This record gives sequence, structure tokens and C-alpha cells, in this order.
Amino acid sequence: MTLFRLDASIRTEGSVTRELADSAQAAWQEARPGQSVIRRDLAADPLPADAWSTSALSGFVPAEQHTEEQLAAKALASTLAEELLAADAYLFAVPLYNWGVSQHFKTWFDLLVTDPRFAPGGDTLLEGKPAALYVARGGGYGPGTPKEGWDHATPWMVRILQDVLKLDLKVSVAELTLAPVTPGMEGLLGLAQDSLDTAQQSAREHGKSLADQVAAAV
Ligand SMILES: Cc1cc2nc3c(=O)[nH]c(=O)nc-3n(C[C@H](O)[C@H](O)[C@H](O)COP(=O)(O)O)c2cc1C
Repeated sequence: MTLFRLDASIRTEGSVTRELADSAQAAWQEARPGQSVIRRDLAADPLPADAWSTSALSGFVPAEQHTEEQLAAKALASTLAEELLAADAYLFAVPLYNWGVSQHFKTWFDLLVTDPRFAPGGDTLLEGKPAALYVARGGGYGPGTPKEGWDHATPWMVRILQDVLKLDLKVSVAELTLAPVTPGMEGLLGLAQDSLDTAQQSAREHGKSLADQVAAAV
């Protein structure tokens, strides 16, 4: 049983998404001690921004004419694909940045789908495998709030993880994470804590349920 974990927070200290994924991973390891975890930390080890375009455009050139750069970009795409194919369950920890998807995560997905095994419309090699997505966002986006509808990251990530990669996805969002450090948000501290507590509880439950789902599928 192998767990794949992807992190995209640009913070290594104080990151809410990393804490949520830590909780889920700890619960997974408690349920299934000794099992391996594949890590892909997109902030600690960013993917080159031009790897996607280089790999994508190599598809229009005969294989025997591929340049060193194209071969390297394709090899990196292949590595990303192999990491997913080697796993049985998945954790994705990705914050909201600038009302959109993290560029690290977008680059990861764009590059991944240049690998022929993950080409859109092809086989769905991960279909039904259990996964969890952890999102943190500094503000509040609930119904009736001024920024309702401004989180353009979470719906897109759900779309690609659930509907493109066909993962059996659970989602947990901690919001108002900037309340403890932002003047003017003091009145939202209670809501922020509630949101964090709920997300933490979900993460612990996800870790165990992902392990149980994998065990049941064996
Ligand atoms: C560069 C940057 C841009 C951000 N943009 C947004 C944003 O558009 N909306 C929002 O609600 N929070 C925004 N935030 C706040 C983060 O979503 C929030 O701090 C979240 O907790 C980050 O995830 P992490 O705790 O895992 O690092 C931004 C933070 C940074 C550093």
C-alpha cells in the first residue's frame, strides 16, 4: 500500500494545508504502519515553468528529432506519471493564491497530462482510487459573503482530480486562515477556528478511511 502526497504551499512553517495533510498522513500510517509514502513537494522542489510547453510541443516532432530539452521534459512528465501509478491513495494539499489555482499545481497537472498514459480522453488509470484534497484560503467565501464565487481554484481542482483523473475524492477546506494575523479580521477568529477544527477532524477521518478503502479493494 503506497500513499502519494503532493504539497503546494509556498510556506514550510505555519502552513495550514501541510498541517491538514500531516494529520491525514498520520492517520493513514496509524491504520497501516510501515507503508511507504511518495512525496511531491512542489514548493521545495518546483517544476521548471517551461517543462510543460517543452514536453507538449515535443508531441509535434518526430521522436528521433527530439532535443535534449524535450527528452528531459518528457522524462520529468514520465516521473510524475510513475509516482501516481505507483500509489494506491492520494493526498493533495493546495492553498488558494490570488483567487486562482497555485501555479505550482497547474504546472504539475499540465506536465502530467503530456505523458501519454495521462493524455486527456485516454484510459483512466486511477479510476476509483481514494484521494483527499486539502485547501486553505485566507478569506471567507461562503454563501452570501462578498467574495462568494471568487475561489476559482477549488472547483477547478475538484474537476481535474474527480472528473478527469477519476479519483474517488474527498475535499476539506479551511478558510479565514488569515484571521489570526490580519488586523480587522478579529471578529472572524471564532469562525476561522471552527473552520480549522472541522478541516482537521475531516483530515484525520480521511487518513483512516483512505487506508480502509485501499484494504477493502485488495
Ligand atoms: C501570495 C499569496 C496570495 C494569496 N491569495 C489569496 C487569495 O486570493 N484569497 C485568499 O483567500 N487567500 C489568499 N492567500 C492566503 C492563503 O490562501 C492562506 O494564507 C492559506 O492559509 C495558505 O495556505 P497554507 O497555510 O497552507 O500556506 C494568499 C496568500 C499568499 C501568500
